[in-house]
Amino acid sequence: MLELTDDTWLMVLTGAGVSAESGVPTFRDAGGLWEGERVEDVATPEAFERDPLRVWRFYSARREAAGGCAPNPGHLALAEAERRLGERFLLVTQNVDRLHRAAGNENVVELHGQLFLTRCAGCPRPPFEDRALYDEAVPECDECAAKGRRSYLRPHIVWFGEALSEAHFQRIGAFLDGGARQRLVFLQAGTSGAVYPAAGLVNEAAALGAETWLVNAEQPYNGSRFEHFHQGRSGEVLPRLLGVG
Ligand code: OAD
Repeated sequence: MLELTDDTWLMVLTGAGVSAESGVPTFRDAGGLWEGERVEDVATPEAFERDPLRVWRFYSARREAAGGCAPNPGHLALAEAERRLGERFLLVTQNVDRLHRAAGNENVVELHGQLFLTRCAGCPRPPFEDRALYDEAVPECDECAAKGRRSYLRPHIVWFGEALSEAHFQRIGAFLDGGARQRLVFLQAGTSGAVYPAAGLVNEAAALGAETWLVNAEQPYNGSRFEHFHQGRSGEVLPRLLGVG
């Protein structure tokens, strides 16, 4: 069991596997999203330039699929860990489905964006709440239209080839620095460890002396970096490991 002591600073990195038991499809498993679609066709800026409707259809289908899903015991265990640790807890997620927030986590860094936010591809207006499905036509920005320009709206997702937010890295760096002065623990759950920079966070934490814990259905690509591996479904393993539920 991973004991949450008074000096524990816990950083958790999650991926699609944590939402699998909620019914959200993963990417690289058999039957996963990348088995039916090529990344280059739906998750790059070039894909959006070439065929924005195809990209919107992909994310609309994901909105529809994730919209009806609820947090599972793995999400709830992580929310309980944050209740216990407060500011000594940081959840870095690659998931865009918002289930961690639905479970009650507030100290969340959404590294790859958010499925239910839309932003303009042509102007800096802030991303806005949007649960709409765009299957027939690519939505356009009304603020640009008011200025006589035409710009498409796009999902607030970080696509391959795009930079991650600098603010996110500052927050992660500050947390790791704080934790390094006490008991720093890094826990990775439900990710194949195939996509960087997320997959490299374990190295940064380990370099600062962190204990490294892994929960996954199978050995991930970066699995050799971890000291403790608890193999299984995160909805079952996380509550047990964290001693909650
Ligand atoms: P993947 O689909 O690559 O990996 C999911 C991992 O979760 C695999 O290692 C599975 O074995 C494991 N898994 C599946 N079900 C599980 C369960 N119930 N409990 C525990 N583990 C389980 O998903 P990610 O690693 O999240 O990026 O993918 C990383 C990024 O690649 C995504 O954020 C997305 C994708 O392309 C973007 O779209 C930018």
